[in-house]
Amino acid sequence: MNILLIGSGGRECAFAWKLSQSEKCDKLIIAPGNAGTASYGKNVNINPNDFEAVKALALKEQIDMLVVGPEEPLVLGIHDFFVNDEELAHIPVIGPKKEGAILEGSKDFSKQFMERHNIPTAKSKSFTDENLNEGIAYLAQHTLPIVLKADGLAAGKGVLIIDNHQEAQDELRLMLDGKFGKAGSTVVVEEFLTGIELSVFVLSDGKNYVTLPEAKDYKRIGQGDTGLNTGGMGSVSPVPFADATFLSKIEEQIIKPTVNGLASEGIDYTGFIFFGLIKVGDDPYVIEYNCRMGDPETESVIPRIENDLLELFIASSKKELGNYQIKISPKNAATVMIVAGGYPGEYEKGKAISGLENIRDSYAFHAGTTLEGGVVKTNGGRVLAISSVKDTQFEALQSATADAARIYFDGKYFREDIGFDLI
Ligand code: AMP
Ligand code: GLY
Repeated sequence: MNILLIGSGGRECAFAWKLSQSEKCDKLIIAPGNAGTASYGKNVNINPNDFEAVKALALKEQIDMLVVGPEEPLVLGIHDFFVNDEELAHIPVIGPKKEGAILEGSKDFSKQFMERHNIPTAKSKSFTDENLNEGIAYLAQHTLPIVLKADGLAAGKGVLIIDNHQEAQDELRLMLDGKFGKAGSTVVVEEFLTGIELSVFVLSDGKNYVTLPEAKDYKRIGQGDTGLNTGGMGSVSPVPFADATFLSKIEEQIIKPTVNGLASEGIDYTGFIFFGLIKVGDDPYVIEYNCRMGDPETESVIPRIENDLLELFIASSKKELGNYQIKISPKNAATVMIVAGGYPGEYEKGKAISGLENIRDSYAFHAGTTLEGGVVKTNGGRVLAISSVKDTQFEALQSATADAARIYFDGKYFREDIGFDLI
């Protein structure tokens, strides 16, 4: 089969690595890809949100399956575009249609969805320009801290946690005034939950689902989980505090009602559902849904999946996940993300990367890299995800951290404490 994989991050590099191992994979095209994906297939530099360009590529390369990594093309309707195009309609798409991607594309929708299906989540209320005064009054009596969320996609920046009523009211006005563009024209005001976060993933075929290994991601830039939020500085899988009892609560209280809820609302969901969860006491709550895999969680999750990933995708596209047996390695995976100096603020690109050949016992999944005249250079804030799989979490963490130290580029930074808090 010929596969077209959309995206250019560490998540897509891990997908490309795994898909390229499948005997069923004849040709793998990654659009646009990065220096890492180029070793598993052919990169083609197009903008994934330009659906006509994706179509031209799919036809030229005689694609048999489209796998969509990031959320944006899904929320914009790339799956619908394929279904509604005569020449593309026969190509299965891994990733939901717009009606399903809205779980991530609209936090207001997802909160109402959870309410309809009794799925545990923080109490919330949504406000727009129309009921701003009601929102101001609501905030005045809200317990602190208060969580304000832009309804739409805001490149991971649309969530504010505020410890002061006046400031929350000011921010509500600013958000409705366009601080996050159109994404903030509806604002979800939410109760703050205290607990520890984890990420749980399923692949759904619309009726059935398989649960993938769970993971924990480390979002802050600084050691000891301090400083600014990033896309993710590292991850581990499995998650030590997610024991069998807790995982089964997640399945019964969250996963099943979500998959059944989608089906009962007539939403035919083929693709990943990423449950961003928080453990409060002994109970799981949904912080957010995403319509894709997590990054850098994928770089710890994929190496633990022993099945042929393409066969898994085929089963999903044929709605045959009901009979699918997923095989998960009992080993521990750890991922350390190497980032550009200055990230998540301003940073430079184009720094030559050396030392990749010195990595001993990890996978180097490229995140923000490019090949220029045979030299691998930095091309983003998150540059390389270094993943190790070992018998124990401690060994995996040690190995990934040691290998991350073997790579060099000007301004390089990584956290040396990923996962050690859980041991
Ligand atoms: P989100 O974009 O919804 O994942 O939010 C970004 C981050 O904000 C989450 O990963 C949490 O750390 C935090 N957060 C969001 N909602 C809440 C909440 N209701 N209570 C506590 N923390 C939250
Ligand atoms: N690592 C969190 C995310 O992918 O959104």
